[in-house]
Amino acid sequence: MVTELVPAAAFPLQSGLVPRGTRTFVFESIFEVFLLLGTLVGVVVVGYMLYNAYKYRSGSGNGHIDDEDRLVLGELPSGSGGGRKLFTSFFMSMIIVVSLVSWTYLTLLYVEEGPSDAESLDVEVEGYQFGWRFTYPNGHTTDGVLRVPADRPVQLTITTADVFHNFGITELRVKSDAIPGQETETWFTADEPGTYTAQCYELCGAGHSYMSAEVIVMPPDEYEAWYANTTADNATASESSADESVAAKSSLRPAVVP
Ligand code: CUA
Repeated sequence: MVTELVPAAAFPLQSGLVPRGTRTFVFESIFEVFLLLGTLVGVVVVGYMLYNAYKYRSGSGNGHIDDEDRLVLGELPSGSGGGRKLFTSFFMSMIIVVSLVSWTYLTLLYVEEGPSDAESLDVEVEGYQFGWRFTYPNGHTTDGVLRVPADRPVQLTITTADVFHNFGITELRVKSDAIPGQETETWFTADEPGTYTAQCYELCGAGHSYMSAEVIVMPPDEYEAWYANTTADNATASESSADESVAAKSSLRPAVVP
């Protein structure tokens, strides 16, 4: 069920029980496993309850209890193999819960550490009231637009120039605090080229809801061609329209800040 959604070839790292791949894939796997097990346990519990409700229904029939066999208040049930059913259900619940906890822990450990890939692209992210600035390894800086290649891990180092912000790209399952004077690390891999939206997820002032950035995931060769044209200080010509939108956005500032 899990592997049907994503072509297996896309994740050579995927091995064993712990899912490896993009964050989207990992969190989808966690969701599906919990949904599947939750449904299974629910069906068994509700099914067994309905079965017993039917079996011991009032009136005559199989399993019908006569009035003299009925338990009275305070009486403990005897029989049924000396609590074997109770022990079995406790034991099964324990196995399910312990397996789920360790499996989820190992999975989240992988998400925490990120893929150990020397090929990752390192980008510094700086939040400010109200926008995002991205700095590439060659010193190239852009405002409001983050361009990354598809199928390559992107390592983000996040900080802020002023107050607390929180950098998040929901579609790629990325979310990390931007803390004054500190750096936080996170990563993502996007396997589909396209445009995503990064948003601030911590109330940081009057322009908080305008504090977004475009995340453009490009085919790797197009990204390399674009990156080769970038320089340390300036945005390339293709970035000028984005810079205008940032300028338009920041012109909102005097209007919204009291
Ligand atoms: Cu920055 Cu909200």
